[in-house]
Amino acid sequence: MTDKYTQLVSRGLGRDIARKLGLPQPVPLRRHQPGDPLVAGPVLVQGTGSGADELASALLSWNLDVRRHAVPKEKLGAVILVLDELSGPEDLARPVLTAATSLRDLASNARVITVSRAAVDATGPAVAAARQGVDGLLRSLAKELRAGATGNGILLRDGTRTTSPSTLGALRFFLSGRSAFVDGQFLTVTSDAGQQPDDVEKPLAGKVAVVTGAARGIGASIARTLRRDGATVVVVDIPAAGDQLATVANEVHGTALQLDISREDAGQRIIEHAVQRHGRLDIVVHNAGITRDKLLANMDPGRWNSVIAVNIAAQLRINEALLASEHFRSSPRIVSVASTSGIAGNRGQTNYAASKGGVMGMVRATAPLLAAHGGSINAVAPGFIETEMTARIPFATREVARRLNSLQQGGQPGDVAEAIAFLASDAAGGISGEVLRVCGQNLVGA
Ligand code: NAI
Repeated sequence: MTDKYTQLVSRGLGRDIARKLGLPQPVPLRRHQPGDPLVAGPVLVQGTGSGADELASALLSWNLDVRRHAVPKEKLGAVILVLDELSGPEDLARPVLTAATSLRDLASNARVITVSRAAVDATGPAVAAARQGVDGLLRSLAKELRAGATGNGILLRDGTRTTSPSTLGALRFFLSGRSAFVDGQFLTVTSDAGQQPDDVEKPLAGKVAVVTGAARGIGASIARTLRRDGATVVVVDIPAAGDQLATVANEVHGTALQLDISREDAGQRIIEHAVQRHGRLDIVVHNAGITRDKLLANMDPGRWNSVIAVNIAAQLRINEALLASEHFRSSPRIVSVASTSGIAGNRGQTNYAASKGGVMGMVRATAPLLAAHGGSINAVAPGFIETEMTARIPFATREVARRLNSLQQGGQPGDVAEAIAFLASDAAGGISGEVLRVCGQNLVGA
């Protein structure tokens, strides 16, 4: 669905009027196209510790124009602020205020990325205060950035380094146009697992991926993105959506499986199809989901139970089958679609928010079970995404909802798909049990 307002105020008279009236001026976002440069200009790596030096050297091997000091008036594609050696809140001032002098020189759609250590691993109150301080700092800075620029952070758990495979994987994701609608978020690198791809444009080469709810909307977009990244894709949807499903399957040169995921034997059917048709199963994306909105005071058992059955109970049952299968043991990856409703709550969506909150709880508790096979499981929580579902929201409510984030626009299905493709790749193998929001830093309840 098109956002006519964004088109109108991005050029000419529309832009001048919006500026004079102080109206929101969303900027068209830089989205990944195969072959595009990773960032929009030089990358400034700031921080004085050995972690910053190691990171800067690693980025040089990506053929980036890496700087350790700002050159006045030069437009920067990204600022990476390495804060991995904080011992107290006073340590923040020097690196943060030095980085601040470069913020006026950011190119449009630039990136600011912090790399710091997780507060939960801190050895004492002062260290914890400094580390948690980075959280507040980054989230506020992301709200100050303009012109499509975003701010995101990478948190390192104990034992992981600034050059761990998934630190570099997360960094590449945040720098790139793949993360266009991810803003004000943190990704935690939980272990040294994972590896960098041989071909950065085909990180899923050789993998077989299953996407549920793929006949349309976000699911169809996920299928296309996984295919673009090199995977062989099995698309799953209910028999009633069979024609649309076949169209998507043909488009991605994959196969279709007509299946209601809430069936008792859904997990088994998915495994059998993938193994019989494609010889293996590496990635499962739980995208299928439904809404049956009603205020809780008016909620009936039918609405409540169907949402829980499709959105969370089916995922739990399918995961049980996957975990028990000898065909899902080689660095398996599961990615589930949650929702910001499950984090912040949404009026009229108690059933939906319970199911999506459930997805996030499930992901956290399943991570250790998959780790035994070098696997990972994560969730992506979309905010306002331009789909058939959000097109049905009345005009005024929709116009407000899509502006209520730091980027002042709705996301595209492809933005959710990019986050899922990243979490399904081996570059994210050291990230597990996490929830990544794709919401442009939604300002409500978060
Ligand atoms: P959609 O309604 O356009 O597509 C969902 C697909 O899932 C449909 O093709 C449907 O047939 C399929 N499906 C439903 N029940 C099924 C079942 N029992 N078995 C197999 N397939 C089934 O929805 P959309 O917007 O593409 O959403 C995809 C996911 O993203 C859902 O989990 C939704 O909750 C989530 N989401 C969407 C947001 C948005 O703004 N559109 C925001 C936050 C989350």
